[in-house]
Amino acid sequence: MKFFIDTANLDQIKEAQELGVLDGVTTNPSLMAKEGITGRDNILKHYVDICNIVDGDVSAEVIATDFEGMIKEGQELADLHEQIVVKLPMIKDGVKACKYFSDNGVKTNVTLVFSPGQALLAAKAGATYVSPFLGRLDDISTDGLNLIEEIRMIYDNYGYETEILAASIRHTMHVINCAKIGADVMTGPLSSITGLLSHPLTDIGLEKFLADYKKGNS
Ligand code: E4P
Repeated sequence: MKFFIDTANLDQIKEAQELGVLDGVTTNPSLMAKEGITGRDNILKHYVDICNIVDGDVSAEVIATDFEGMIKEGQELADLHEQIVVKLPMIKDGVKACKYFSDNGVKTNVTLVFSPGQALLAAKAGATYVSPFLGRLDDISTDGLNLIEEIRMIYDNYGYETEILAASIRHTMHVINCAKIGADVMTGPLSSITGLLSHPLTDIGLEKFLADYKKGNS
């Protein structure tokens, strides 16, 4: 399972990278705004800064919602750095743009996916990644994990190579359950990754090992 961090915060990206388990980064316009990154030039520079920290794929989202605009903007993003993946919304022109980019060898991430039908369309358009938002489905009392299961079944039925990128992850149990289902990638906040480290028996066990070592070596 690949681990992506879902943030535009450079310190958090560095921390996850230094842990040695990071495979990529996802961003979106809200995450950029949260870090105070505004203005086209600053946003483009920030994507390059992120690419220079991590080794893997970095999703950069288009703002345009029409086909021509998405192609222009997506190509500009793709030209920034070889690690950039063009993130496109799951709307009609987004599907068309996905097909265009996949025919032209540009990696894509189809975002804002909330149904198996949308995920099927993304795979048929050749998306590199599809991003079902499980946390936002949970937020409205719908079973987000069930959507991941349905997409896994559909993709396996036909051997689609589009990777399921479980997005809108909120906590460690989302990560673990997505891993059980077979999501290819998860993207979440730093806490959803570092939280996997914690177990009280690990802390108690280590404390005892160190205390016993000290007794025998003092
Ligand atoms: C995915 O790529 C999105 O950036 C993200 O996971 C959205 O998560 P949220 O629902 O926590 O905003």
